[in-house]
Amino acid sequence: MPPDFPPLSALITRLRAAGCVYAEEEAALLLAAGFTAEQLAVAVERRSAGFPLEHILGWAEFCGLRIAVERGVFVPRRRTELLVSEAARILRVPLAAAEASVATASRAPAAGPIVVDLCCGSGAVGLALATLAPGIELHSSDIDPAAVRCARRNVLPVGGYVHEGDLYSALPDQLKGRMDILAVNAPYVPTRSIGCMPSEARVHEPRVSLDGGRDGLHIQRRVTGQARSWLRRGGHLLIETSRHQARRTAAAMAKGGLRTRIVHSEELDATVVVGLRL
Ligand SMILES: C[S@@+](CC[C@H](N)C(=O)[O-])C[C@H]1O[C@@H](n2cnc3c(N)ncnc32)[C@H](O)[C@@H]1O
Repeated sequence: MPPDFPPLSALITRLRAAGCVYAEEEAALLLAAGFTAEQLAVAVERRSAGFPLEHILGWAEFCGLRIAVERGVFVPRRRTELLVSEAARILRVPLAAAEASVATASRAPAAGPIVVDLCCGSGAVGLALATLAPGIELHSSDIDPAAVRCARRNVLPVGGYVHEGDLYSALPDQLKGRMDILAVNAPYVPTRSIGCMPSEARVHEPRVSLDGGRDGLHIQRRVTGQARSWLRRGGHLLIETSRHQARRTAAAMAKGGLRTRIVHSEELDATVVVGLRL
């Protein structure tokens, strides 16, 4: 470690005093980030002030991958790995293959199943799926230009397409009736609950990435209302939701003409509703 760098123990003490629960891990990541001493000082200052670690490092770990995450873009959550594993199960690929197949995913020619990551944020879900299942035709889309820019960094190198716009209106018409997997982690926090979220989310992630309207299901209902016409027969819609919203998410999907089931992971504290177009 260069002499002008603070020792690991000092960083840990500083981060712990600022309330970082995982001070040891975070200090080690900051020290290994390749910052100059000056940049490291700014990074520690920011982290102590509540900036998300991922925005400081410029990446988040997701499904064993490093996903580029820029400031002002939603940080992919560990719980969303359930959305990926359920989609991977439907595509018949094991989740453990993610890291191993990074190399083969790059620029794989797309001829396989059509996978759409709607409300893609950084593009993490689509990238993880393209890594697990090289050869899928991946389309990722988001309404927020900052998210789209970030998703392009993650998704273009694996041969995916990134679109900008409001839900389905962003997608090419040729995808209608042809999607195999429509994976969606749209905002689902009820508007009144946003004020109770940790400041890392409330202050540093855009409102459009969190706010699901009055009961949190506003965007989900817009997704389920049209999903049937975009899926092929036998295609699946998967939506991340919360445990207590799951039955309403499933009801919206059923109303949209899909056969539904609810999947929950205690380990990830995650819930996904899966709908099948018969
Ligand atoms: C909870 S974040 C999830 C991002 C990403 N799927 C993930 O899991 O990391 C929701 C994303 O939905 C996008 N979004 C919100 N409303 C949208 C809309 N009407 N059309 C497309 N994207 C939308 C936001 O910009 C944000 O990136």
